[in-house]
Amino acid sequence: MTFTSVNPHDPSDVVGEWESADERGVAAVVERARRGADVWRRTPAAARSAALGGAAEAVQQRAGEITALTVREVGKPLSEARGEVARAVSILRYYAQVALLPDGETLPAADPDALLMARYRPVGVAALLTPWNFPVAIPLWKAAPSLAYGNATILKPSSAAAATALLLHEIIAPNLPDGVFQVLLGGAETARPLIGHPDVAAVSFTGSVPVGRDITSRVAARGGKVQAEMGGQNPSIVLADADLDRAAATIAYAAMGYAGQKCTATSRVIVEKAVYDDFRDRLADAVTALVVEDPAAEGTLVGPVIDDGARSAALAAVGASGGRVITGGKALDAPGYYLAPTLVELSGPDGPLASEEVFAPVAAVIGADSAAQAVEIANGVRFGLVAAVFTSDLSRALKLSNELDAGMVRVNAPTSGVDFHAPFGGAKESSYGPREQGLAARSFYTESRTVLITP
Ligand code: UN1
Repeated sequence: MTFTSVNPHDPSDVVGEWESADERGVAAVVERARRGADVWRRTPAAARSAALGGAAEAVQQRAGEITALTVREVGKPLSEARGEVARAVSILRYYAQVALLPDGETLPAADPDALLMARYRPVGVAALLTPWNFPVAIPLWKAAPSLAYGNATILKPSSAAAATALLLHEIIAPNLPDGVFQVLLGGAETARPLIGHPDVAAVSFTGSVPVGRDITSRVAARGGKVQAEMGGQNPSIVLADADLDRAAATIAYAAMGYAGQKCTATSRVIVEKAVYDDFRDRLADAVTALVVEDPAAEGTLVGPVIDDGARSAALAAVGASGGRVITGGKALDAPGYYLAPTLVELSGPDGPLASEEVFAPVAAVIGADSAAQAVEIANGVRFGLVAAVFTSDLSRALKLSNELDAGMVRVNAPTSGVDFHAPFGGAKESSYGPREQGLAARSFYTESRTVLITP
């Protein structure tokens, strides 16, 4: 089966055409990974660290090329694509150091002269299924810890970001022994045999809830290790004592930056009644001021969405929302898949814009009588990835951060954006399994082996 990826700014620009891997192709890659894993787990930590350091420098050297391809293939604005590649370099440098951290702990044994240890061992072969929206950072925030902890790693990127994944592979694989870092291209026909393969010990996925659910149940059913980062329907709460201009600019960007195509984007803006009208108007001004343009142009903050289906689905959700469109709500007259940044005022937390992940430059504004009601609305969805609170009262911020049902809470900061050295993951249907990033990644990419040596 062949597939292509196309430039969402100019759909006549086909970035590449490839053949997807079938069951035999998958089996060959897994077999090579199995042999690679055997070599890699015996490689000294210092050598693994040096290899990751080498990969970081190689990515840094070709940053311009990776950035340009990311802009072209997934329509990410140039400034964000640059930031993403810089983040990827930092992730590789960070895990190059993590490879040298303690690889276990000792515990008191029943016999005081004995040695009781828990050693962190690599799981073997890890498969990474990654989305198109962070085509550089997400593959690397999974691959870097997987490799640092000694696993052979197979990347199966979204078809819409295949060219970027191939470029990363071309740059990184030469730093590693044969079979330790491989790429498999294709859609579900490739993912199925990969996640079902008995020699794939661990599967890490980022993408939608239905696909994540399907993958977690299939991998768990055969006794594999699995983690999934799925959707968000992230709230930003604006309390009456917030710096309203700062909150408006921050939320406009968190909702619309990269056309809202982040699982961390703000989808609901919940505003305390006392400042509701005032804040809604400031937010509308901040959204209207965002530059919607060719993502390759310097200064663009909002580019196209990934394809026509995504745009139609977003417009359908706006139409079905039962709300009043404050700004946007229509496609732009351009060859690419552009959609005007859209704010919709809802009279209550109902309809698709208050409950589903839309993954487009669309956000709903909802009023709340009090901070307590704002929390209730914020928590009233199936998702729980990230929540933001805007306030100048730190004790209220602390209280709300304890009450919000989210894996990450950010005060006076956008819901989007992450610290690569801090745990990343959500509550409820947003995530499944251990957290990603930082030292939290160890629990997924290693298994502890308890060793007792008596004298
Ligand atoms: C970010 O907000 O910078 O798929 C990262 C996603 C998230 C990553 C968000 N897993 O959008």
